[in-house]
Amino acid sequence: MSFLTLDHLSHHYFSKKNYTKALDDISFSVKDGEFVALLGPSGCGKSTILSIIAGIIEHTAGEVYVGEQPLRKSELDIGYMLQQDYLFPWKSIIDNVLIGPKIGRDQSSETKKRAVDLLEQVGLANITDSYPDSLSGGMRQRVALVRTLITNPKILLLDEPFSALDYQTKLKLEDLVWDLLQKYNKTSVLVTHDIGEAIAMSDRIILMDANPGSIAKTFEVPLELRNEKPFSARRHPKYQILFDKVWEALNQNEAGSQQTKVVDSSNDT
Ligand SMILES: Nc1ncnc2c1ncn2[C@@H]1O[C@H](COP(=O)(O)OP(=O)(O)OP(=O)(O)O)[C@@H](O)[C@H]1O
Ligand SMILES: [Mg+2]
Repeated sequence: MSFLTLDHLSHHYFSKKNYTKALDDISFSVKDGEFVALLGPSGCGKSTILSIIAGIIEHTAGEVYVGEQPLRKSELDIGYMLQQDYLFPWKSIIDNVLIGPKIGRDQSSETKKRAVDLLEQVGLANITDSYPDSLSGGMRQRVALVRTLITNPKILLLDEPFSALDYQTKLKLEDLVWDLLQKYNKTSVLVTHDIGEAIAMSDRIILMDANPGSIAKTFEVPLELRNEKPFSARRHPKYQILFDKVWEALNQNEAGSQQTKVVDSSNDT
């Protein structure tokens, strides 16, 4: 059975004068423990999908199910990680990590120990009393990862979590995140612009099209790549084959949407 299902989901953003059709008839499922990547051009609705799954915005049509229950009736624990780390500068690292449990009133010594353990696992032992300002971008994002994992969410939503980092840090973090998600068997949805990252990290890639956001194509990542850590997957011969296929599909979509735009403008005149 699927862990999460998006069933003919559509979304419009309304303002006083007009509206934007952000998503049109999106349907896909995510299995328990699966890692799905959403890949596509800017504005195709990737973040909107995550916001709907997170319950931050309400979709206009269709339904999201957790198991067989509509999302709004379920109590899905979600971990959300974004491009920006949103650490509070006036709080120490350990206090930043423990924000979630504090909101949930879980201040047990066990939770604190788990926080310290997780910080150690991401290579940040002995910085519990430091402040975010003294950390590099990569270290801050690792703290954000620990803060996301500490509440033990059922699903992780990752919205371009590595895109603000330098390439070397990004590659290292991809491996680290992949390792942790495997270890704790987390179900995850990753939003990215980066074809390589989608192939190296995920089990399945959903390629999206823009104007309005829709699903263009789905690619299964071969098992040989899925079993490798992202850094090694990038060096596997099958990586380049899939990269070329996704690249071609992306370019076809782009060409298609430009053609549509030309037709649209000629209709206007
Ligand atoms: N709060 C909002 N109000 C109105 N329109 C919005 C709002 N948020 C997003 N949109 C529009 O909805 C569409 C999808 O936006 P979304 O942010 O989901 O795209 P995205 O794929 O995440 O883009 P990017 O890759 O640039 O982050 C875009 O046309 C965007 O302008
Ligand atoms: Mg986005």
